[in-house]
Amino acid sequence: MKIFVPRDMAAVAVGADRVAAAIEAEARARNIPVSIVRNGSRGLFWLEPLVEVTTASGRIGYGPLSEADVPSLFEQRFFDGAPHPKCLGHVDKIPFLARQARFTFGRAGVIDPLSLDDYRHHGGFKGLESALSLGGVGIIAAVKESGLRGRGGAGFPTGIKWETVARTPASQKYIVCNADEGDSGTFADRLIMEADPFMLIEGMTIAGIGVGATKGYIYLRSEYPFAIRMMQQAIGIARHAGYLGASIDGSGAAFDIEVRVGAGAYVCGEETSLLDSLEGKRGQVRAKPPLPAIRGLFGRPTVINNTITLASVSFIMAEGAKAYAEIGYGRSRGTMPVQLAGNVKFGGLFECAFGVTLGELVNDIGGGTHSGRPVRAVQAGGPLGAYFPPALFDTPYDYEAFAKKDGLIGHGGLVVFDDTVDMAKMARFAMKFCAIESCGKCTPCRIGAVRGTETFDKIIAGIEPERNLALVRDLCETMKFGSLCALGGFTPYPVLSALDHFPEDFATPPLRHAAE
Ligand code: NAI
Ligand code: SF4
Repeated sequence: MKIFVPRDMAAVAVGADRVAAAIEAEARARNIPVSIVRNGSRGLFWLEPLVEVTTASGRIGYGPLSEADVPSLFEQRFFDGAPHPKCLGHVDKIPFLARQARFTFGRAGVIDPLSLDDYRHHGGFKGLESALSLGGVGIIAAVKESGLRGRGGAGFPTGIKWETVARTPASQKYIVCNADEGDSGTFADRLIMEADPFMLIEGMTIAGIGVGATKGYIYLRSEYPFAIRMMQQAIGIARHAGYLGASIDGSGAAFDIEVRVGAGAYVCGEETSLLDSLEGKRGQVRAKPPLPAIRGLFGRPTVINNTITLASVSFIMAEGAKAYAEIGYGRSRGTMPVQLAGNVKFGGLFECAFGVTLGELVNDIGGGTHSGRPVRAVQAGGPLGAYFPPALFDTPYDYEAFAKKDGLIGHGGLVVFDDTVDMAKMARFAMKFCAIESCGKCTPCRIGAVRGTETFDKIIAGIEPERNLALVRDLCETMKFGSLCALGGFTPYPVLSALDHFPEDFATPPLRHAAE
């Protein structure tokens, strides 16, 4: 019988390896033959380690488990799907999962990540087959028709980016996967790489055929050791099976992929800085133009896309552009893997069509705060994203709707805070974060973030608050319009949203104190 125990980094952090070892030992002691599959996570993190067994009626889950639960699980014959206090019933019917539109994460947690057979059995490589029959022009037309926009944060139309690369003549072109995932509270890239690595390989291969590139790089941060190992193993398996490093489109050209590990600087998630780092240089932002699509890696035309963008292409090519474009909101088509983190009851990955409101995501799907106290703020879009108060919870999850509220959806992260949060400290943190992570190339960011942190220290200490608050606003203006990249340019979002929506935390003396 098959027992699934996730080897996802988050599941392992809460004891999945110990649970797997206990199941193996208990089965051996009882002379019960079991086959343990180390799957990825379903993304229901409050239930991890979530163990699943296959039964005639479907997969039954048990969680969150510890090794102490294992003897009683065997006593109650959990491997037959029998009841147990930790039994969650059919995993597919857990409301958090049942309500999702799992386009990109459909196989996550379901398959054995390193089994090509399992991948094929669950629709893998269907997208590649269809891409091969369409050819480059057809692939780009399909990606354009799907309405797919970059999932790294900027939301630029993927098909247009690919078309630019395809139309730029060069003897060598590249596909670069930005798997640097530096945004706080985000884990979608990691989850897909640990749970369904062939999907990313398939998406990158389709991109290669689409634009005429023969070489791909996955730029991964060193803080993701499981994903690094998983991608390296999966690439080796795909190469051995002839999917990589061999001609598959009859042109004689072979596409291949390499994993490159960065040291985890936030700015190396910015595309030009990432390219510098890939070239072996210190990761520093380049001025644009030229765009990477024209002059990217080693000066050659380069598609640089986020992990989820490339993985989504596999789904689009397999199920058709129309199926993807059919759902969504406004110009935001398809699905977004929303990542619920921070002080939230049901933390995890929720893939859904755009258009759901922020309030639904936080209160209904996320279940409110983990602490049980009222939600006071949600930071959307990573450390450079705005803080939304509950008064703005009717905002639909959509690139344009968030921009209208001076916010961004970024890479899909939502970090929830309860009413004990001190927003003056959070505003200071944004400046401090920028000061630490700045690449130092331009003055508004390099100097501005340091001065901003110092000015917040004065505001918090009650020194000339009015003058210093005006100074911060002026500084934000300079950073927003004078910075070379999003790090300096977007730091004003969290700062100004904290000032605008939570002015009481900046009053002298503060009108409210943390944990009052
Ligand atoms: P951008 O708007 O300058 O560019 C977006 C993408 O479109 C880039 O790849 C750019 O090269 C490409 N592009 C623009 N015009 C083009 C054209 N005419 N033809 C072909 N390609 C074109 O945005 P940027 O600076 O690349 O990204 C900023 C975003 O990054 C922010 O919205 C932020 O949310 C996000 N971000 C994400 C992080 C993560 O962990 N995923 C971390 C930090 C920031
Ligand atoms: Fe570097 Fe900051 Fe300027 Fe970006 S904004 S180029 S990170 S100094």
